[in-house]
Amino acid sequence: MKIAIGADHGGFQMKKMVKAFVCSLGHEVEDVGCFSADSVDYPGYAKTVSEKVQKGLCAAGILICGTGIGMSLVANRFSAVRAALCHDEYTARLSREHNNANVLCLGARVIGDGVAQEIVRVWLDTEFSGGRHQRRLEQFSD
Ligand code: RB5
Repeated sequence: MKIAIGADHGGFQMKKMVKAFVCSLGHEVEDVGCFSADSVDYPGYAKTVSEKVQKGLCAAGILICGTGIGMSLVANRFSAVRAALCHDEYTARLSREHNNANVLCLGARVIGDGVAQEIVRVWLDTEFSGGRHQRRLEQFSD
C-alpha cells in the first residue's frame, strides 16, 4: 500500500521512526515533510497528505503533530478523508473496523514510540467491517 506521511516539528522525530517502521512492513511511503525540528505550521502538512488520499494518489495517510488534534481537525475537512486520532491499539483497531479511517493521526507528545508502533501495526493490519458501519459512513454526506 502507498502511504503518505507528514508531520510538524512536534511530530518530526516520531515521523522518522514511523516511516522506517511502515517501510519495514513492506509498504511504500511518500514523505511530505517536515524535514527538520524547526518550528512549522501543521495545516500545510495535513492538507498535503489529505489531498493525496482525497485524490486516490495514496491509499492512506499518517499525520503526526504534538497532540494529533490539529492534524485531525484539518484532515477531516476533506470530504473523502476519515481521519482518526488514536492513542492506543483499541482505538486504532476500532477506527478501521467501524470507521474505515483512511488517515491515522498520532500525538507525539502524548504517546511513546513503542505505543505508536503498535498503533500503526494494528491500524494497517485491520480491515473495515462493513455492514451497519458502511450504512453509517454513508450518512456522513447526507
Ligand atoms: C505545535 O506546538 C503544536 O501545537 C502542534 O504540534 C499540534 O499539537 C497541534 O495540534
